[in-house]
Amino acid sequence: MKELIIEGRNSQSRILVGEKVANLGNYLPAGKVVAITDENVIALYPSLFNGFETIIIQPGEDHKNGLTVESIYNDLLILEADRSTFVVGFGGGLVCDIAGYVASTYMRGLRFGFVSSTLLSQVDASVGGKNGVNFQGFKNMIGTFNQPEFVLCDPALLNTLPEKEVRSGFGEIIKHSLIADSGMLSFLEKNREKALSLHPEVIEYLVFKSVEIKSAIVNLDETEKGERRKLNFGHTLGHAIESLTGQTHGESVAIGMVLAARISNLYGLISSEEVRRAESLIESFDLPTTTKLGFDAVFNQLTKDKKRDNNNIHFVMLENLGNASVRSINLKELRTVLEKIWK
Ligand SMILES: NC(=O)c1ccc[n+]([C@@H]2O[C@H](COP(=O)([O-])OP(=O)(O)OC[C@H]3O[C@@H](n4cnc5c(N)ncnc54)[C@H](O)[C@@H]3O)[C@@H](O)[C@H]2O)c1
Ligand SMILES: [Zn+2]
Repeated sequence: MKELIIEGRNSQSRILVGEKVANLGNYLPAGKVVAITDENVIALYPSLFNGFETIIIQPGEDHKNGLTVESIYNDLLILEADRSTFVVGFGGGLVCDIAGYVASTYMRGLRFGFVSSTLLSQVDASVGGKNGVNFQGFKNMIGTFNQPEFVLCDPALLNTLPEKEVRSGFGEIIKHSLIADSGMLSFLEKNREKALSLHPEVIEYLVFKSVEIKSAIVNLDETEKGERRKLNFGHTLGHAIESLTGQTHGESVAIGMVLAARISNLYGLISSEEVRRAESLIESFDLPTTTKLGFDAVFNQLTKDKKRDNNNIHFVMLENLGNASVRSINLKELRTVLEKIWK
């Protein structure tokens, strides 16, 4: 087991990579603990919830909203949760985002931690202290920055994941290598098969590297004023594609990353050869690299992105493989650029 620390504004967060879920009790305080999970997770791992009061939500992004939050507040009232209650979000990114938001707001804030059960949430979603829900069709529009006390990442939980969810997680792992670590990129190229078959040591290494990269960035810029924007590489276009097609987050980000790599090339940053290398890595993890959508549909959707700053957008570029930078691009200019790279 390896531990990484995130230093939040208000509190520290311990990320426990390779810790067994059987050891969860070691990280919980004495007193009442309420687990929040979804129907799929509790159906797969019922015994892990023995001894906890458990609130079960429905899976799926459609349920990541205020109604679900309200129903959880209601259940917490029924369970007589008070300021001393500890909340454990047990699930993928969706459960962790909602549980973190509920815990941060119920009675002005309860202590909370996560057991992260998808690859995407272990390498990204559950780490970094962003939590929240969607509102009026806008993703993660309502939320807080608040760090969980711990994030337990047990690779054994990943063995029950549908293949599609595994691939989605690799989208974010590849992103971390592209923005911050060319050594990790070579590792992914060399260990593709072991990685895709969830070889425990390879997965633990990749989860650790991802969390290491993400936590270093979050430690510099918890509330996303600068450096943290780099984590949005592939996401400006990826989010638009995700909303329009319903492809998984990782699949959409994969396409977004290829497009962002091409844009970086157009701006004279990475070479065409580097674009091809990034693209073949993404492809080798069975992730899509192109979309059937027209550039105008994607452009119109992305102008709704909440990360827009008046008529400019913070766009993450690759300086080279393993090194990203953020530029503020005018929307008109971005439209022209998209038109050029869309082929
Ligand atoms: N807070 C952040 O920084 C951040 C970053 C990235 C993504 N996110 C959010 O994370 C969410 C996506 O997370 P996700 O991909 O983990 O999706 P998810 O939580 O919806 O999980 C995907 C599916 O896998 C199931 N599942 C969970 N654990 C399982 C297991 N061990 N075995 C089998 N099935 C399991 C779930 O029930 C669900 O059906 C989105 O809402 C996104 O906005 C947040
Ligand atoms: Zn993401």
